[in-house]
Amino acid sequence: MDSEKLKEMVAQAAIEHIQKLDKKIVLGIGTGSTAKAFMAKMPLIQKQITTTLASSIETQNILAKMGFEISTLGDIRKIDIYVDGADEVNKYCEMIKGLGGALTREKVLASASDEFICIVDETKMVSTLGVDKPIPVEVIPMARSFVGREIVEIGGQPVYRVGCQTDNGNIILDIRNMKIGIPSDMETILTQIPGVVECGIFAKRHANLVIVSNEKGVSKQYPQYM
Ligand code: 5RP
Repeated sequence: MDSEKLKEMVAQAAIEHIQKLDKKIVLGIGTGSTAKAFMAKMPLIQKQITTTLASSIETQNILAKMGFEISTLGDIRKIDIYVDGADEVNKYCEMIKGLGGALTREKVLASASDEFICIVDETKMVSTLGVDKPIPVEVIPMARSFVGREIVEIGGQPVYRVGCQTDNGNIILDIRNMKIGIPSDMETILTQIPGVVECGIFAKRHANLVIVSNEKGVSKQYPQYM
């Protein structure tokens, strides 16, 4: 089955999940191709959406084009539901995000949300985060070399993402070959390096629900607590 179909399936399942709630919601939306598949279906829940919040300029432009009202966290205190894709997800619904470069705004919206629905195809499900995919970190430009050296000190290999400037005017370092151990601990370690704005490990604010697709259909996964 082609990957577009798998994205469409999880997008549809997220729409149906929201329809079943049968109430008005403030909706936050992520960034990337799976989030785009979800946005394409948002007209189906238009009446339920009081306002939207966007995790990137790209997402904001799509929502504006579709005619949705876009708010900011200055206007809205609490987001009811945040829907986004991910690069890797484990059974605790912890994720690596940010291969699309929007990790900081995504983490802010996810953290301001009551429910985080992550939508992915089965290839994103992993037993250990960070083995196959790098951990992105957003870094202010003047701190690039310092942060890189600090990452080497703790055992990672930072790779500068060429040609990427985030919506916040920063750069991305992708950390390869880093043994994550406990994801929430590594999230703390990385975000405490001066110059790091945010890291792509979403463990402290993991998803509440992961909707996963494969060629047989979709399934729902909830965090398995340790
Ligand atoms: C962007 C992200 C995306 O959610 C992640 O990269 C998944 O993207 P896609 O749905 O295109 O596979 O974290 O910063």
